[in-house]
Amino acid sequence: MPRIEIAPSVLPADFARLGEEIAALEAAGVDRIHWDVMDGQFVPNLTFGPAVIASARAHTTLPFEAHLMVLTADNMAADYVKAGCQRLTVHAEACTHLHRTLGLINSLGATAAVALNPATPVSAVAHVLDLVDMILIMTVNPGFGGQSYIATMEPKIRELKTMIDAQGLTDRVAIEVDGGIGPKTVAAAVGAGATVLVAGSALFRDPEGLAHAVTDLRTRAEAALTC
Ligand code: DX5
Ligand code: ZN
Repeated sequence: MPRIEIAPSVLPADFARLGEEIAALEAAGVDRIHWDVMDGQFVPNLTFGPAVIASARAHTTLPFEAHLMVLTADNMAADYVKAGCQRLTVHAEACTHLHRTLGLINSLGATAAVALNPATPVSAVAHVLDLVDMILIMTVNPGFGGQSYIATMEPKIRELKTMIDAQGLTDRVAIEVDGGIGPKTVAAAVGAGATVLVAGSALFRDPEGLAHAVTDLRTRAEAALTC
């Protein structure tokens, strides 16, 4: 059975206590840390540079993945790998030469992933699945945390899963979802084929705390796997 992974977005964290927040996420049982990197051009917000991620690196042994919501991923990739990210996720919409960009990321010793905005068809990644270990289906439009889940992405997740299976890559390429993932939406996303779950608000907003939120999300996701 595929393994559910919880990849918290640190966007809602208290950036004045980032190291402690990262350590608390690890203690709460997450599988990796999802850094929403925004350049203020591809998306309106501006968030984490490599130096911020490098400073958080010492506070956990968990893998780091950088969700690069940026226009110039080619110029930034090496710095984010050097800062301690094991995976870099680039947006198909921002990469003029996506195949080459993914090859660059792999040459840096990191694994590569491609993010697809809600309007972007899965056909955009049909010819690069051999270069990635994950595809991110955005379930919100990128740039902000706390938005509502776009349920019409579920058929798109199913379509991507069919494509991955048809290319014989089921065990090599995972599907991640990002945006509005929480107790009410996780089962449908997993039921459609997602196994890697990015959540920000749903984890940090839980009145019973991070550990409860992570356990609850994982339990709901695993239950959806067996359906
Ligand atoms: C959007 C971000 C968000 C965020 C998750 O650009 O990628 O999806 O981290 O936000 P929540 O879980 O709060 O919807
Ligand atoms: Zn993200």
